Amino acid sequence: MSAEPILASLMPDTATLHGDDVTIGGVSLRDLAATYGTPLFVYDESTLRSRCREAASAFDDGVAFASKSFLCGAMARLAFEEGLCIDVATGGELDIVLRSGVPASRIIVHGNNKSHDELERAVAVGVHRLVVDSFDEIERIRSLVTPSATLDCLIRVTPGVEAHTHEFVRTGQEDTKFGFSVMTGDARKAISLVSEIPGVTLHGVHAHIGSQIFEVDGYLETMKILWDFTKDDGFDELCIGGGLGVAYVADERAPSISQWAAALRRAAEEVGLDARIRLLAEPGRAIVAQAGMTLYRVGAVKPVTQRTYMAVDGGMSDNPRPVLYGSGYEAFDVDHPLAPRPQEVRLVGKHCESGDVLIDEAWLPSETGVGSVIATPVTGAYGYSMASNYNRVPRPAVVFVGDGKAREVLRRETFDDLACLEA
Ligand code: LLP
Repeated sequence: MSAEPILASLMPDTATLHGDDVTIGGVSLRDLAATYGTPLFVYDESTLRSRCREAASAFDDGVAFASKSFLCGAMARLAFEEGLCIDVATGGELDIVLRSGVPASRIIVHGNNKSHDELERAVAVGVHRLVVDSFDEIERIRSLVTPSATLDCLIRVTPGVEAHTHEFVRTGQEDTKFGFSVMTGDARKAISLVSEIPGVTLHGVHAHIGSQIFEVDGYLETMKILWDFTKDDGFDELCIGGGLGVAYVADERAPSISQWAAALRRAAEEVGLDARIRLLAEPGRAIVAQAGMTLYRVGAVKPVTQRTYMAVDGGMSDNPRPVLYGSGYEAFDVDHPLAPRPQEVRLVGKHCESGDVLIDEAWLPSETGVGSVIATPVTGAYGYSMASNYNRVPRPAVVFVGDGKAREVLRRETFDDLACLEA
């Protein structure tokens, strides 16, 4: 973090920074805040589409968008239109994607504890793939699949690879609730059990080693382990999961989706992966993070002895990532995007706890104060999707912008929405 103006490289592709405004997709951020209110999630449709297209062309058919990173009907349709399958992890995500009109034949179902009802719906609608995660699930599948209600599966395996990332989002190691261990023989046992169920077609294995990963070496190691493990099985797919990292702050650099895929293709060649096998992945963050940003309005500025607190009208309810993972973000003033940022503040939300910090050391122009609209870029992933109603704060609206127009894809929650749950 520094007193330099905000970096254009953290912005969505179509961002244009003027002296007194920023436009995304040809739409002024200041106007968006005035029209839709704050906090507001703004996504650049062109960035979303181009990241989806990049993934669709870098991997084989069946590559998916991990919808847990950001899901609404418009997002599911957009990813589908751009050629991706949609990966869902719960019955709720499955429901939203089905309601959006995306055909079941483009949906991949995950989950380490799929209920009977979730499995039943997946089988009934005929999903593209179901990724099997436990022996208990195998028994449930056995009771649901019939010769007329068939199921196409992958087996989720644990390769025993420790990805270099936060422990909460690391999943490839042995000590995990996800998948079947290659090392202990559980994965082999799962493969034989699933292959024997009449009506089930097993296409291959899947591994996801973690999230917000910058180094490709963990993926290469995983690919080698998966191929060594399955080369005699005659499978036709290998899915390496998601997890590609993105730059959130000025000094971070991440590989692009194409660079990630190219490194995987090289590794596939080195380990001798059969050319018939479809190489698949399911990125979430790398598709949506940089396309999105959050607009807030400053409501209080409070200098104390140690620092200055600047409070905005959202907080940990729309972005819990700083609190959960210590994630860093940057901020800029929508009216002064090219100005130096000499004012150091702790950017906080409106929630009733001291931990409600969005940016520990935020740098903003000296002009920024009460009433200013500020934006935090790179909040398109795991912000809205992990948003809560803590302190009964309604969730923000979400708008997509492009070609000089904005469209609201999720409206702002109201107090009535919250009250309607009362029994
Ligand atoms: N596939 C599987 C099986 C996953 O579990 C995940 C993420 C992905 C794909 C997509 O990963 P991505 O490309 O988005 O990194 N809430 C955390 C991230 C949790 C990721 C969970 N699984 C965060 O905000 O950093």
